[in-house]
Amino acid sequence: MDDGKIRIGGICGSLRSGSYNLRLLRAAAELMPSDAVYEEIAIRDLPLYNPDLDGASPPEAVREFRSRLQAMDGLLFAVPEYNYSLTGSLKNALDWASRPVAESGLYGKPAGIMGASQGAFGTVRAQLHFRHVAVFTNMHLINKPEVLVRDPQAKFTADGRLADEDTRKVLGQLVEELVRWTQILKSGRAALSMR
Ligand code: FNR
Repeated sequence: MDDGKIRIGGICGSLRSGSYNLRLLRAAAELMPSDAVYEEIAIRDLPLYNPDLDGASPPEAVREFRSRLQAMDGLLFAVPEYNYSLTGSLKNALDWASRPVAESGLYGKPAGIMGASQGAFGTVRAQLHFRHVAVFTNMHLINKPEVLVRDPQAKFTADGRLADEDTRKVLGQLVEELVRWTQILKSGRAALSMR
């Protein structure tokens, strides 16, 4: 679809129903500028990555996930931290998304990352690991601002709304940067006819 809007796909690395990272992602979605359209892309139905399943006809959930990613101009990831790293579910989704390389919906895309954890460092270690994965999958990550949300239980209301003004401000800046860089890359690529 080409309505002139920037399409941003949001992925949450937590499968938990009460996830703070999902709340953060949805708060970010509400802050998208009007020239961007946001869609959430779920990862919970993806099987564990197995090259044996990744032949001529991969599972339906994988095909749908890949085609939704390919339709996006930019991506926004909420990156929870498990054991100082990405959650297995998010890494699994990135592994499916990265193949086949020539059609990967990650390749060359701008992406924003952010995270919330109940630990003291607000997912900084998981986000650094995400940056490693982004090198090989060739995503262009937004460097600043960093969105590291500590103590999320005090920042979201019981119904999931982001009530903390400082977090809302930095989230708004991240989303703005993501959309701005997505526009720059999209128009530059169109001018150069490149992927
Ligand atoms: C955690 N948690 C956690 N937090 C952290 O800051 N650093 C860590 O290394 C870990 N490790 C970890 C491992 C496992 C297996 C679990 C279940 C949890 C806490 C975690 O960040 C917290 O539960 C968040 O609330 C998870 O994100 P969602 O589900 O709220 O989005």
